[in-house]
Amino acid sequence: MFEITRNELIGPNVYRIELKAEKIARKRKAGQFVIVRPVENTERVPLTIAASDAEAGTITLIVQAVGRSTQQLVDLKVGQRVLDVAGPLGEPTHIGDVKRACVVGGGIGTAVAMPIAKAMKDAGAHVTAIIGARSKDLIILEKEMQELADRLIICTDDGSYGRKGLVTEMLGELIAAGEQFDEALAIGPVPMMEAVCNVTREAGIRTIVSLNPIMIDGTGMCGGCRVTVGGKTRFACVEGPEFDGHEVDFAELRTRLGAFRHLEEEARQQLSDECRMKAAADQLKKEGD
Ligand code: FES
Repeated sequence: MFEITRNELIGPNVYRIELKAEKIARKRKAGQFVIVRPVENTERVPLTIAASDAEAGTITLIVQAVGRSTQQLVDLKVGQRVLDVAGPLGEPTHIGDVKRACVVGGGIGTAVAMPIAKAMKDAGAHVTAIIGARSKDLIILEKEMQELADRLIICTDDGSYGRKGLVTEMLGELIAAGEQFDEALAIGPVPMMEAVCNVTREAGIRTIVSLNPIMIDGTGMCGGCRVTVGGKTRFACVEGPEFDGHEVDFAELRTRLGAFRHLEEEARQQLSDECRMKAAADQLKKEGD
């Protein structure tokens, strides 16, 4: 179980990891996630299930190596096993009767946007996808999004690919040009989701965001993932991760997410130092043999 069947680099520090998880592959729905412990004594990492193959019994995760645990996960090779994978967790995306949807993905958020865009398309909606990043090399899953969306618009902040500018500006232009959307979905960095919500609020377009707060148990017990939505405390792991973006307290989410960022960076640095020391020790041993 949880054997890695594919591990490939698809962007700077971003990996597509496919692993065996038969039951999860059979049950998962768009919008759900898993919590992964790559090896012993690591953190529990929440990751959206980007795709699954029920017949092959595999799920696909898109992983950005940003901390110690995600680095340990992407370091696993094909044939090695992930220690444990819990899921599928969270509420599936509610598709409803959306006829025209705009899915906006920023950076690594495109990996979360992809299965939702696919589910909407499969349900018969016309899907416009806008994906963006700071520069061309940071755009991920372009081919996949091209295949599943009716229209794909790519934006880069520096203009190195697609249209120069922010995804929110593109969305604003479409709306100003008279495009009609029943629903927008925004997934990416918190400022980007907030900015999309500001644009759609004015236009009266219902907007769903997929939140990425700190998660620990993923079962509603620890309270780590609490967010405020519509003035009420909600647990993203069991009641989300998708919420009405116009109701989310983004300022609080930003503060909570920032609280542990320096510790993540320190842990990743420590892992890198440990790896260097181990490599040096192995080399010395080899030379001594
Ligand atoms: Fe613990 Fe949601 S992750 S309550």
